[in-house]
Formats: sequence, structure tokens, C-alpha cells
Amino acid sequence: MASLLRLERPRLPTDAHRLQRCHTVDDLRTAARRRLPRAAFDYVDGGAEDEVTLRRNRAAFDDWELVPQVLRDVGAVDLRTEVLGVSCALPLVLGPTGFTRMVHPDGERAVAASAERFGVPYVAATLGTTSLEDVRAVGDAALWFQLYVWRDRGLSKDLVARAQDAGYRALVLTVDTPVPGARERDQRNGLTIPPALDLRTLVDGARHPRWWWGLLGSEPLTFANVRHVADQPTAGMEFVGAQFDPTVSWDDLDWIADAWDGPLVLKGILSPADARRAADHGVDAVVVSNHGGRQLDHAPATLTALDVIAQEVGNDLELLVDSGVRRGTDVAKALALGARAVLLGRPYLYGLAVAGQAGVERVLEIYAAELLRVMQLLGVTSVAQLDRSVVQRR
Ligand code: FNR
Repeated sequence: MASLLRLERPRLPTDAHRLQRCHTVDDLRTAARRRLPRAAFDYVDGGAEDEVTLRRNRAAFDDWELVPQVLRDVGAVDLRTEVLGVSCALPLVLGPTGFTRMVHPDGERAVAASAERFGVPYVAATLGTTSLEDVRAVGDAALWFQLYVWRDRGLSKDLVARAQDAGYRALVLTVDTPVPGARERDQRNGLTIPPALDLRTLVDGARHPRWWWGLLGSEPLTFANVRHVADQPTAGMEFVGAQFDPTVSWDDLDWIADAWDGPLVLKGILSPADARRAADHGVDAVVVSNHGGRQLDHAPATLTALDVIAQEVGNDLELLVDSGVRRGTDVAKALALGARAVLLGRPYLYGLAVAGQAGVERVLEIYAAELLRVMQLLGVTSVAQLDRSVVQRR
């Protein structure tokens, strides 16, 4: 009997054990849901309005099938690629997410350290909760900076100059946010930045003590890149939204390109016409993105948009894509349809919520293992071989 049973000593679950039990990104999402107070989880997980685009992003991946080619010696597979002239160990980029320390006190620093360990770029956000200089100081990761243009153009120019001085390699201008989308879960939850201590949150604190302990025990949660916003007593979502400049237009690309010496990326493109216009303006790459379904609800799923954009301008621009990438198969499909790499948003935040840096690394490990296996099963040995020959519409 003893030889048939492997009895394990009961142990209290630690972060490491929790991570070992997470085999997929969806497992990490479930674990993050348990770990975070509802308002924080919903802030990460939610989309705009009826969340139609949020769901369609996922559904679009199911509309494509992967077609394997057999007997092709897949003993050695190379996952490396080149994005904006820089070699990446995986065709993945950790995308920009604001307020990252709300999820875990190690926030942006943990994400930057994970990016360095896995050899992938990380895009630090204008609305970060760790200053861009402090993120840079973490180590040697390839860092890009995501810019929101503020009503105060001086502030925007200053951010660009700071990113340049700190050694950021690319500037990512987010173009799908002239105003913030309506995240109705946040409205219902009464989310504020920083989270307010009222009766509801105190009750919630009893159910999520580790999260509250982490929040209260770390430096105050502020918009570390934009102090004038951070110092406002009412630095909530609405206040921040009011700082975005809805008059930003294609003309602004000229001063931004003048102010920035390096690759320029537009994030939030969904139509071939806009992608063409970006190419005509000398932009180096676009991220086909609907902001993870957090901006315009009923915007097209990004995989669908990528398919069309790649056919029209794929030779003139580097294409990146994000929104709903949760599996190695999703990465393979995005690359096959013309993307150079994919950005991840929520997935690494789920990992961060569960176990800080180790959680972000677990997420990257899962994508790398899944992508490797998918490529072997598909019969390809390099990411360049992921082309239209391996996908077909259902
Ligand atoms: C974001 N995203 C985002 N994008 C951006 O350009 N600037 C930002 O400040 C933020 N902030 C942000 C916060 C949170 C909590 C999330 C989930 C997302 C969008 C992000 O960069 C990316 O486009 C999407 O997250 C991609 O979709 P997935 O991977 O989350 O499905």
C-alpha cells in the first residue's frame, strides 16, 4: 500500500505553492480574483460598458484554426525574434498598465525585473505608480515608455525628455484614449486612486488582509510620473481623465517625433486607413489594440483587425498586437497573421497580484512553454515560420 501512495506533509500554502498550482493564465486569474479586493480585481479585469469587445477579443482567437505540418524535425525550436531592431528572447512585450502598485506593492519594479530575466521589453506607463527613472534603475531590461498627451503640452514634452534621458528605447503613444472609456465596474465599485478607506473597504480589508497590509505598508500609491496630478487631493479616475487632451491629432505627431530620438510606436490602431496614415507619418510600428476592450465598446476584435491591417500595410510597418492573448496558441495565431510580437496586459497583472515578481515570471514561463509546444506540434522551428500557411479561418 505504501508504495502506491505518496503522502505529502500538509503545509500552509505559500506564494510558491500557489504558483505551482497555476498551470494556465486562467488559473492565475482565478487566484488573483481570490487575492484582490473586488474593486482592485475588477479594475484590472473589466472592460468598457457592456464588455462586448472584451469578450470578442477572446472569441476572435477561436475563429482561426492552426494547421500542423508533420514530420519536420522540431527537436530544436528558436523562440527569439527582433522587435524595433532589438533582439527579444520571446515574441512577447509586457504592455503598459497604469496604477500597477495597486495590484501588488512591488508593482512596476517587479515587472521590470521579470522582463529583464526573460529578455522581453516592458512598456512603462505615463500613469505608472513608480517613476520612470525608478523603473529604469531596476536593471537592464529593454524599456519603452508609453505616453499620454496631457492638456499641458509642457508636461508631455517633459515626460518625453525624461524618458529619453533615462535611456528608454522606444516611445509608445497611446492613441485610443482621447477620453477614458466607461469602465462601469469601477463606477459601481466606487473605485478611487488611491483606494479610499471607508466602511466598505474596512470590511473588505478583513477579507483580504494581505493586500491591505501590502498597500498600507508601502510607499503611498501616487501617479509617480506626474506629480502635479499626484499631489491633487482628488486624484481619482475622473480627475485624471480630465487631464487627457481630446484635441490631440495627427499634427501632434510632428512635435512628438521631433522631441523623441528613437523608434515611435502608435498604440491603439484598428483600421488599415489609420495604419497607412501612421506609416506615411514615418511611425516605426503600430500596436493593433482596443486597449483590452477598455475604451470603445463594440470596437473590432484585434485579431480580426490585425488580419486586415497586415494585408494592407504589413510590409511598411512593424505590427504588434494585444487584447485577449491568453495562450501560446493565441500568440502563434497573432504571429501567423502578421504580428511581430504580442503585448500582454492583464495576464502579468494577475501573476503580480498572486505572487509579485515570481507571479509575473510564472506568467512568462507559461507563455514560453505553451508557445514552444504549439510550435513543435505545428511543425515549425522559428517564429518567422509562423505565417499564413499555419492558420485557416474556421
Ligand atoms: C491598461 N492598458 C493601458 N494602456 C495604455 O496605453 N496606458 C495605460 O495606462 C494603460 N493602463 C491599463 C491598466 C490596466 C489595469 C489594464 C488591464 C490595461 C491597456 C494595455 O496596455 C493593453 O492594451 C491591454 O491590457 C491588452 O489587453 P489584455 O492583454 O489585458 O487582454
